[in-house]
Order: sequence, then C-alpha cells, then structure tokens
Amino acid sequence: MKQPIGIFDSGIGGVTVLKEIIKILPNEDYIYYSDSKNNPYGDKQDKTIINLCENIVKIFIKRNCKAIVIACNTASAKAVKYLRKKYPSQIFVAIEPAYKMVHDHAYDKPTLVMATKGTIKSEKFNLLFHKYNNHKTYLLPCVGLADIIEKGDHEELEKYLRKTFGIYKGLVDNIVLGCTHYPLIEKEITKILGQVKFFNGASRLAIHLKELLKEKNLLSNDTISNIQFIDSQNSKEKEERFFNILNLKDKNKK
Ligand code: DGL
Repeated sequence: MKQPIGIFDSGIGGVTVLKEIIKILPNEDYIYYSDSKNNPYGDKQDKTIINLCENIVKIFIKRNCKAIVIACNTASAKAVKYLRKKYPSQIFVAIEPAYKMVHDHAYDKPTLVMATKGTIKSEKFNLLFHKYNNHKTYLLPCVGLADIIEKGDHEELEKYLRKTFGIYKGLVDNIVLGCTHYPLIEKEITKILGQVKFFNGASRLAIHLKELLKEKNLLSNDTISNIQFIDSQNSKEKEERFFNILNLKDKNKK
C-alpha cells in the first residue's frame, strides 16, 4: 500500500468530505476512521474530544499516513490547534463551517448556520463568525441531530426537523451545513424549508488538501486507489452505509 491519507469523524458523517476529496484526488489510498463508539462528539468536553482525536491520529501515524483530514467540524474546532502543535511534521487539514463562502458569494442573504453545540460555542468558530458576519445570520446549535442521522432513524429525523426548522421557513435563503453529517439530509431540510442554498466546506477542503500534497510532492500517480474503513465498534452496518454513500460496491476501487 502506498502512503495513505487518514480521514476521521465521530461516525460516518465525514464520508461527505471524503466524497469531495475523491473527486479531485482519485488516485490516493484512504483510511477512514469512524469513531461511532464515542459518537456524538458535539456535546463532549474539549479535553475528551482532544483525547479521542489524538488516539485516532496515533493510529494514522502508525499506518504511515501522509496527511490527516479532520472531517468533523466539532473535532476541528476543539482539537486541531493542539494536534498541529503536538505533531508539527504531520499534515493536518481540518473542515470548518463554510461561513466565509456566504461572505464571498451570498453576503446579502439571511443565513442559518447549523452545527453542533460544541462547534457553535467554540473559539475557532466565533473568530470565523465575527470576521465574516453578514449581520443577517441565525446560529442554530442542532443538539442531537448528528446522532439521529448516525442512527439513520428517518421518523425521528422528520420530527426533529419539523420542530426545530419550521420557524425558519421563509426567513432564510442560505444554510451553512456546519457538521459533516448534515449534507446527508439536504433533501429532508429542503422539504421543510423549501428552496435554500446550501454551503458546505468539503469541496474547498479537498482543493486545499490537493494543493498541500502537490506543494510537498506527495501526490500519488498510481491509478489504483484503495479505501479502507475502520469503525471503533466494528459496525458492519456502518461499513455498508459508508460504501453505499460513496457509491462503491467494493472496498477496493480499481
Ligand atoms: N460530524 C461532526 C461534525 O462535523 C459531529 C457529529 C457529532 O456530534 O459527533 O461536527
């Protein structure tokens, strides 16, 4: 196996990030780590999240990963600063809510930022928010939503969205998907809110990752790509959902 790229989330949500990465880096090997045993991260203490992330990072380093993608907004907000300091020679790329994209492309429009409580309260997000504030933004901590998506409970999801999102119908045009699980429910959100514009940081992250690898001469030229899925609970159901979302039948994409 060539030097892989490690990518992780508290569960399968980060697959929405991997999907964007594969579009522009199809020749790389990937190890995806889903920490479903410790899901959700959204309401956990900073120190707990840092420890969980560091344990995953150690696995990736042992597996000789050339870059590590934090495909979880909550983990990025809480742990990336610590990890970059502790592992200075390691390349880290971290997702964050695409609020700058709103500033650059749809500044005038009322905006709803959805994220976990942990992300919304974090210092990292608050710096971003104050820098690009369009003064027409609602911040919505979606407590428990990532967990419902992780469980794949459609009935509970519909109930949650109706209760929490109903009041925003007609009020907002932009939705920032500030948790990597949320792109999986765009259709369901549209059902409640009508036509809205979604902002997701994954494609921007993918471009940044490619630029970094190119700069360091680490891009793979091989045409065979291998994707390995690891779940901290060894869940076969999660593995199946993961490859279904990626639209790959087999683990080994050839
Ligand atoms: N997918 C994660 C994020 O982007 C969080 C989900 C969770 O609360 O565990 O924030």
